[in-house]
Amino acid sequence: MRLVFLGPPGVGKGTQAQRLVEQYSIRKMSTGDILRESVARQTPLGLQAKSFMDGGRLVPDQVVIGLVHEWLKGLARTQGYVLDGFPRTLVQAQALTRILDELKTPLHRVISFEVPETELIRRLTGRRSCPKCQWVYHLEFNPPRRPSRCDACGGALVQRDDDQEETVRKRLKVYQEETVPLLTYYDELKLLSRINGQGTIEEVSERLMEILKPFMGRR
Ligand code: AP5
Repeated sequence: MRLVFLGPPGVGKGTQAQRLVEQYSIRKMSTGDILRESVARQTPLGLQAKSFMDGGRLVPDQVVIGLVHEWLKGLARTQGYVLDGFPRTLVQAQALTRILDELKTPLHRVISFEVPETELIRRLTGRRSCPKCQWVYHLEFNPPRRPSRCDACGGALVQRDDDQEETVRKRLKVYQEETVPLLTYYDELKLLSRINGQGTIEEVSERLMEILKPFMGRR
């Protein structure tokens, strides 16, 4: 299965992608995770990306397109994956279509997760994540077994710099302006499925599985 997960900040894309990776032999590419890791390591990419991310703005298209292109070229043709947080602009979506045409590996499905804004803010302000292994928790909805420690690797959990309420509001505005037009783009390509992202993580996961059932095992 070759999938794209779309949806506003905090809707649960990363959480659902993480579950797919655990349950199936599928890979995950999160542009946000790669950019955050680059910022933490102060690489040239990280230094370039930091001010955009801290301000809740998108990193320039050519930077992220280059990252995803390299990653996709490195995959076996039969390897399934989910792109979490890419594409986010029409330019990125068109570039992805061109890259996948070149590789002769078209997408199977684009999933748009949908949740009201008040719930997104609750999810984002309570989120804690592990900078070592990228595992994601929520203080109330998905707490770690030991306070502030990652269940998977024992690392110290942190709150993301861009999860402050003011930056969250800016990210939601950027999503409306830059990413919402992709819903029409993928709908016209007959690739889009919309999914209600409300309810527990388990419930959303069950809805996702219903949509993905016909694509399981596709190459
Ligand atoms: P990125 O890291 O991609 O952030 P995002 O898209 O804003 O999405 P989030 O990671 O905030 O949310 P999510 O939907 O994955 O939710 P999660 O599963 O964590 O990008 C960060 C920045 O990097 C961007 O602002 C931009 O600057 C840059 N960037 C990245 N990609 C880019 C691109 N392609 N182009 C340009 N710039 C780019 O869940 C949230 C919380 O809710 C968690 O605590 C979780 O435990 C909880 N939760 C999940 N599901 C449920 C549920 N069903 N019920 C209750 N709680 C739940």
